[in-house]
Amino acid sequence: MIRVTRRYQFSASHRLHSHELPEEENRRLYGKCNNPFGHGHNYEVEITLSGPVDERTGRVADLDELDRLVQGNIIGPFQHRNLNEEVEEFRDLVPTTENLTAIIERRLRAVWPSRQPALERVRIFETARNIFEI
Ligand code: NI
Repeated sequence: MIRVTRRYQFSASHRLHSHELPEEENRRLYGKCNNPFGHGHNYEVEITLSGPVDERTGRVADLDELDRLVQGNIIGPFQHRNLNEEVEEFRDLVPTTENLTAIIERRLRAVWPSRQPALERVRIFETARNIFEI
């Protein structure tokens, strides 16, 4: 069993703000990330697949196929977007990177073929120091 990880990048903006909390609580909880005008990140996304090495091809995964799925379902819809306003899932969900990681995993899982290799992990580097994985 071999694990293969491929890395992608997209840039997007967000504002951390919960509609379920009062303004004051939002300011206290999210600090400068609650700035009404938002701020941006250059997100690095790592997708890890695992499976056996195919005897004929010598490979675990068709990375071109992975690229197509990631481009169509993640990079295309998120690149240079405001996550709060332009991504359906964040209409009523705070676009923290915890939630972004879960959304990306869910989107990929929905289109991933059930056969090998398995979609094993999604990891997002929000900054050099903030890393999230599912
Ligand atoms: Ni942020």
